[in-house]
Amino acid sequence: MDSILVRGGRRLKGRIPISGAKNACLALMPAALLTDEPLTLTNAPRLSDIRTMSVLLESLGCEVASLQAGRVLVVGAQTIASHVADYDIVRKMRASILVLGPMLARDGRAVVSLPGGCAIGARPVDLHLMGLERLGAELELRDGYVHAQAPGGLKGAVVEFPIVSVGATENLLMAATLARGTTVLVNAAREPEIVDLARCLRAMGARIEGEGTGRIEIEGVARLRGATHPVVADRIELGTYMLAPAIAGGEVELVGGRRELVAAFADKLEAAGATLEDTEAGLKVSRGNGRIGAVDVETAPFPGFPTDLQAQMMALLTLAEGVSHLEERIFENRFMHAPELTRMGARIEVHGGAATVTGVERLRGARVMATDLRASVSLILAGLAAEGETRVARVYHLDRGYERVEEKLSACGAEIERVSERAA
Ligand code: EPZ
Repeated sequence: MDSILVRGGRRLKGRIPISGAKNACLALMPAALLTDEPLTLTNAPRLSDIRTMSVLLESLGCEVASLQAGRVLVVGAQTIASHVADYDIVRKMRASILVLGPMLARDGRAVVSLPGGCAIGARPVDLHLMGLERLGAELELRDGYVHAQAPGGLKGAVVEFPIVSVGATENLLMAATLARGTTVLVNAAREPEIVDLARCLRAMGARIEGEGTGRIEIEGVARLRGATHPVVADRIELGTYMLAPAIAGGEVELVGGRRELVAAFADKLEAAGATLEDTEAGLKVSRGNGRIGAVDVETAPFPGFPTDLQAQMMALLTLAEGVSHLEERIFENRFMHAPELTRMGARIEVHGGAATVTGVERLRGARVMATDLRASVSLILAGLAAEGETRVARVYHLDRGYERVEEKLSACGAEIERVSERAA
């Protein structure tokens, strides 16, 4: 098993290219199930979660070709040979549930394993199921699987979500493209990944209006065709690397980054003392010698502060002058990075869904480990600023969502490398 070794204290200077968004790509790939023609995705990220989605789609009979060293994915679902998404794949990655809507819409049947809980919370899929039932699907839960049928095809309906769900909005958006009549999604998620999916579906021939707002209207069509679609930039990778010069000092240009993808987060970063500047190629972030200031953060659905940047922001605030309050409103158990940051000298108190961070003057390197993707990268960020050596174990979490993290950061002058445990 690999670890990441960081020797802190280096100011950063350079450019970091932002990859295509993992969470957009994980919804775009299942969209290929809606048509018998190939869907080509360009600007795809090279990540283990993307490979897991490829394996899942192949298990359903799709052909997935990875071209240009994984930058381009061509997904072909001429026919869906198997309608069963197996537990062994689904348990590895919750986004697997996104094959349910498309299979049901195209062939009127699907059997998908229930994902179960995960490290950051219970994460049920009841809203996905409620929405599909509203479109006329008959669902039965048996042996840990959802058995779904719509023998006469899906029918458009009004689906009102009691809480905002990214995944449920994506599943319903895809399913509704081939349903008879009009579907209205009320209280829909507004994340850039939803907008990207809607654009791709429209290029495939779908009729969709209102993406990026809380009300999306979809007029079902009889069939969709293939298309070529570029995956939107990864706003969470962008935000993560915006934090690197903020915590370590220096100046980094995020190539392909756009402020509007992370506006709420960018405002907080500026309030904490970083300087942001739009450039032709993207976005530049710098911080001089002054100390970071404390800020309060509350996570919320887009356009609010993203839960997927909460751990990384906490790493920065451990070094702020003053006391910061963080409130996690999306997932009930997303502070596992706090005890690890504490091992590096941070002062953090967690009470349920809230954390109080009292800034310290310095962090010290330590051996740490993380139980999820964003937690692991928060420890790397802390390591960039810490005195001495930080070794982050369980790097497989990181590889799910960050492409070549050690290369991207060392190109800016960070001392960071990947080591195998045997050499450790
Ligand atoms: C997506 O997960 C992302 N994953 C997550 O990114 C992200 O943290 C999350 O959205 C919130 O922004 C992908 O896009 C693949 P939700 P998703 O449905 O769709 C509750 C990362 O680090 N809920 O918007 O699963 C749920 O428990 C990951 O890249 C229900 O109660 O999130 C949560 O509290 C982690 N019933 C809230 O809604 C449901 O049926 C929002 O979840 C569905 C969700």
